Amino acid sequence: MKWILITTLLFLSACSQHTRPSLYQQLGGDAGISLITDALLNEIANDERIVHHFADTDIERFRRLLAEQLCQLTGGPCIYSGGTMQDSHKGFNITLANYDALVENLIKVMQRQNISISAQNQLLALLAPMYKDISYR
Ligand code: HEM
Repeated sequence: MKWILITTLLFLSACSQHTRPSLYQQLGGDAGISLITDALLNEIANDERIVHHFADTDIERFRRLLAEQLCQLTGGPCIYSGGTMQDSHKGFNITLANYDALVENLIKVMQRQNISISAQNQLLALLAPMYKDISYR
């Protein structure tokens, strides 16, 4: 009887792990991440607190790399092919206020796209540790 119970529990736990959607899936997969990236870029373009940082940036390349990175970071089938966060942001003098502005835009975009609060928080938690590499150095 004990073994039946243990086997059943193991089976159920394996099933629940298998069916729990990855964050990538919760964000809507490739299509969802593409929408988030495009909308975020649009917000940045209209945000005078941070837009100046992107004055010399190849936006199409940035768009592709950001989407790729979000896909990989959230468990999707992508391999990020850009530079390290440290190298890519060196010399831009990015402050905490700049970082917060970008995050504020990201939250606005995710809200608008009806991403669940849980998924939003999971993504923000993955991005937060990057601040130390992105910020002023
Ligand atoms: C968690 C937040 C962030 C993530 C995940 C992120 C991610 C990225 C990625 C993937 C790239 C492309 C890397 C490459 O060129 O190889 C990039 C570039 C860039 N990021 Fe960020 N970034 C973040 C925050 C910020 C913030 C707060 C700013 C400034 C307000 C910023 C400004 C830039 C700029 C200006 C570039 C382009 C650099 C260039 O033109 O070469 N980033 N970022």
